Amino acid sequence: MILATLAMLAFTSSSMFSIGRYLRYMGYEVKYVRNFTDVDDKIIARANQLGEDPINLSRRYCEEFHYDMTHLQCLAPSTEPRVSDHLPQIIDMIKQILDKDFAYMIDGDVYFSVDKFPEYGRLSGRKLEDNRAGERVAVDSRKKHPADFALWKSAKEGEPFWESPWGPGRPGWHIECSAMSAAYLGYSFDIHGGGMDLVFPHHENEIAQSCAACDRSNVSYWMHNGFVTVDSEKMSKSLGNFFTIRQVLEVYHPLALRLFLIGTHYRSPINYSDVQLETASDRIFYIYQSLYDCENVLGEDDEATWKNVNPPETASCINEFHDDFLTSMSDDLHTPVVLAAMSDPLKTINDLIHTRKGKKQELRLESLAALEKALRHVLTVLGLMPTSYSEALQQLREKALKRAKLTEDEVLQRIEERTTARKNKEYEKSDAIRKDLAAVGIALMDSPEGTTWRPAIPLALQEKLVAAT
Ligand SMILES: *[C@@H]1O[C@H](CO)[C@@H](O)[C@H](O)[C@H]1NC(C)=O
Ligand SMILES: *[C@@H]1O[C@H](CO)[C@@H](O)[C@H](O)[C@H]1NC(C)=O
Ligand SMILES: *[C@@H]1O[C@H](CO)[C@@H](O)[C@H](O)[C@H]1NC(C)=O
Ligand SMILES: *[C@@H]1O[C@H](CO)[C@@H](O)[C@H](O)[C@H]1NC(C)=O
Repeated sequence: MILATLAMLAFTSSSMFSIGRYLRYMGYEVKYVRNFTDVDDKIIARANQLGEDPINLSRRYCEEFHYDMTHLQCLAPSTEPRVSDHLPQIIDMIKQILDKDFAYMIDGDVYFSVDKFPEYGRLSGRKLEDNRAGERVAVDSRKKHPADFALWKSAKEGEPFWESPWGPGRPGWHIECSAMSAAYLGYSFDIHGGGMDLVFPHHENEIAQSCAACDRSNVSYWMHNGFVTVDSEKMSKSLGNFFTIRQVLEVYHPLALRLFLIGTHYRSPINYSDVQLETASDRIFYIYQSLYDCENVLGEDDEATWKNVNPPETASCINEFHDDFLTSMSDDLHTPVVLAAMSDPLKTINDLIHTRKGKKQELRLESLAALEKALRHVLTVLGLMPTSYSEALQQLREKALKRAKLTEDEVLQRIEERTTARKNKEYEKSDAIRKDLAAVGIALMDSPEGTTWRPAIPLALQEKLVAAT
């Protein structure tokens, strides 16, 4: 059922990871537009440094970005407009703003006049007199007000340019978003996303431009996500604590990274650290292992008569979980609460798997089936559902081996050495092997059938975790 059509613009896709999926799950038809800024000062500077065409450079980055988003199971947008493909729309909007007298021209540049827009500052709560824009850079003395910003910049040596009524040049940073959102969503739409750092001046300027061009312009909800911090410091190139999603995915599973990202509320800073990524990897392994075991138990039953029953004893656990899910997601996407609420049904699954015979057996399969279904349902909305549990578990094991700098054969060999040592009552040696492996994140599990291994949080990091609590 389609409740309404939601028009949504997400100008960054990082933390609002689950909103598109959740809105669709709620029955909305979502139109999701994500911009590609392929012309701006930084891109031009970088391209000149590399001796590459700036648009070509951006295309390469766009492809890389898509690769990362796909691996993180982010839903593809309905449209992904690029600035370089929307010069006519941008120029049109600047013309409208000039026609309505909200902007002025100087030597081939066009500036927005903030004094003409009394509501300037309504999103960020900043007052115009507080705005010391241009304080760090020398104020352009040609501007009427220091906070006035460029809609069009005249062409400079070594920069890409397009023809316009004001001469050759390129769009200012802010106008692209107003023009592209209006082109795909209209002047009035439901949700606009972006990083916290964009509230001022970027989004403030966007509101001013869009309202100047069209007085019907309105965004109902702004959603701003927090920064990624590394060990509590803001991630930035200048601090040297900067790394890419690709580098993280070398050693961690993409769905472990996703679990980590949605484990923080989207408006809060996300605190990146190895401990956090190890914890997320461990958690997602536990989730998939429980569900994999559950599938195996269910697979043993050829009757499959349980498929549509929801036994009363499980029903309350599932209802509670489902209520928590809906309440938390509807309350400004509180994904961390949903993740925590998974503990109960997962624990019940593990209890049921290890309840072999007896009174519970009768409804055991029905319960397991219902619990698995409820969890799968929520994992899908959170974008955490893998193609198959067994494949994801295998990939998680491979990443753990990579972090441990060991091959699976090496681990199996150490297990054999340990088994031999134990047979010979060389307990010091066997303990040392177990400890060495635990130190690098390989946990050994003994059972009557033999010894197996699974990824675990490396010992030193576990100690860090304990110290922190
Ligand atoms: C989308 O626009 C915002 C604001 O201009 C910018 O910060 C962001 O990098 C753009 N996103 C992409 C993927 O280019
Ligand atoms: C951009 O890349 C394309 C193909 O990758 C190439 O043919 C073209 O010459 C490049 N453009 C510039 C200006 O370097
Ligand atoms: C803008 O949207 C909000 C939220 O839907 C609404 O309360 C407000 O009246 C709208 N403003 C205009 C000018 O349409
Ligand atoms: C972020 O992580 C670091 C190191 O793991 C920790 O010391 C710090 O307290 C954390 N900060 C927040 C805001 O959680």
